[in-house]
Amino acid sequence: MAKKIRDSWGSRIGIIMAVAGSAVGLGNFLRFPVQAAKNGGGAFMIPYFVALLLVGIPLMWIEWSIGRYGGGFGHSTAPGVFHSLREKNRFIKYFGVIGIFGPLVIMIYYTYIESWTLAYSFFALVQKYSGITDQASMQAFLRGFQGLERNEYFSSIAPAYIFFLITFIVNMVVLKHGIRGGIERFCKFAMPTLFVFAIILAVRVLTLGIPDAARPGWSITNGLGYLWNPDFSQLKNPSVWLAATGQIFFTLSVGMGVILTYASYLKRGDDVALSGLTAVSMNETAEVVLGGSIVIPAAFVFFGPMAISSIAGSGAFNLGFVTMPLIFGQMPFSEGFGFLWFGLLFLAGVTSSVSMAQPAIAFLEDEFNISREKAVVLFGIVTFTLCNGAIFFLGKGVVDELDFWGGTFCLVLFATVEVILFGWVFGINRAWEEVHHGADMKIPFIYKYIIKYVTPVFLLVVLVTWFFQKWLPIIRMDDVPSENKPYILATRVGLWLIFLALVVMVKVAWRRRKGGGEGA
Ligand code: ALA
Repeated sequence: MAKKIRDSWGSRIGIIMAVAGSAVGLGNFLRFPVQAAKNGGGAFMIPYFVALLLVGIPLMWIEWSIGRYGGGFGHSTAPGVFHSLREKNRFIKYFGVIGIFGPLVIMIYYTYIESWTLAYSFFALVQKYSGITDQASMQAFLRGFQGLERNEYFSSIAPAYIFFLITFIVNMVVLKHGIRGGIERFCKFAMPTLFVFAIILAVRVLTLGIPDAARPGWSITNGLGYLWNPDFSQLKNPSVWLAATGQIFFTLSVGMGVILTYASYLKRGDDVALSGLTAVSMNETAEVVLGGSIVIPAAFVFFGPMAISSIAGSGAFNLGFVTMPLIFGQMPFSEGFGFLWFGLLFLAGVTSSVSMAQPAIAFLEDEFNISREKAVVLFGIVTFTLCNGAIFFLGKGVVDELDFWGGTFCLVLFATVEVILFGWVFGINRAWEEVHHGADMKIPFIYKYIIKYVTPVFLLVVLVTWFFQKWLPIIRMDDVPSENKPYILATRVGLWLIFLALVVMVKVAWRRRKGGGEGA
């Protein structure tokens, strides 16, 4: 069986843009401000930065290092990468299944939400929602679009489905062109563009002044204060720590398996230490500086301190798709700003969703020796079918369920496996050498101890706390309305089937390797 030549990155800036592209996503502009506002404002930033320093940055280095290492053995995905870290162990590769399963599950709902941003940027330009001036009507517009109700704005889910199809095809086209010709090329265009969009929006919001003279307290300064003034009593609340850690995982795309896959296309001598840190810095700038300066301050200025708590509490979608269009509607050039806002989200979304698809595609390419085109088509057919569950059962809580398993639970679990493998199974001394191989910076020595002891303990504490607080209610579906329980159960069965199918595929792939004399 002739092996194909592996794809690779064209330039250092290319991989940094791609990893930052994976990291900068809907999470930066929608999820982060809502999480911060809900969890103690400025006080949220303390656990947030603690988690960034003790978990986020170490995991970024770990994923870049083990990805590059595994890539040297021809593996781009976690089963093969883990196997190459400890070839003698026959079971390690099965832990790697989480690193294909997790991103696949996120991709299923993420692409659908991404398609709403494309639709809304189009609606902004053609002024489809420009006549709507109150929350309830804008909410009805969103619900009609999502197919949750038929109303004066939408009589079916068809427009949402068409925008989903376009978004899905855009993703597949980027993916079909491979690492260098597709993902790298797209991210090199999309990342600077989305930063320009975000800077324009942030400057516009920060120069809003006081739009309503009758309410001088509704100022941008107070809006920033609402987000950043710390409520220190929240620091005693473990769920604030969990929320902050969860946000770090989600925003950096660590613990998914995607950065490891991107890093596998590096060359042995390429730097991982400085490049990984640069990608983190780009993400944090987009999140804390830009993400923190748009939605919450803008919503404060237009809706005031009372309304904003309920707006933030009602979730990221309401803020992004209901409140923001209403805000832009009150500004001059509302179509332009609406287009920039949703265009920004769309670009941020695509650069993230392609990274979530890459592990499954690379798995088919590497372990089954399938061509890129065929792997993309196969992946496209399977994921497209699965996305329909998220589209048609959104109102039954299916997206939240997928987000919990794919976007929260798997991340912490996979990260725990990664850090134990790297610091303990591979061995911290080899690990330290590996991170520094070809490195353009020296990582502070303290990180040797952080990676070996602090990060795994931190993650185990999060997992154990979570287990004791939430495990039973989740299994029993305590928080699920009874009419939704059959759908959630079906989603869980479906997830198990996907997971088991991946386990069987790993088993088959390794058996074939053995048969082909490539070592088990
Ligand atoms: N890291 C991506 C985001 O923030 C998934 O949306």
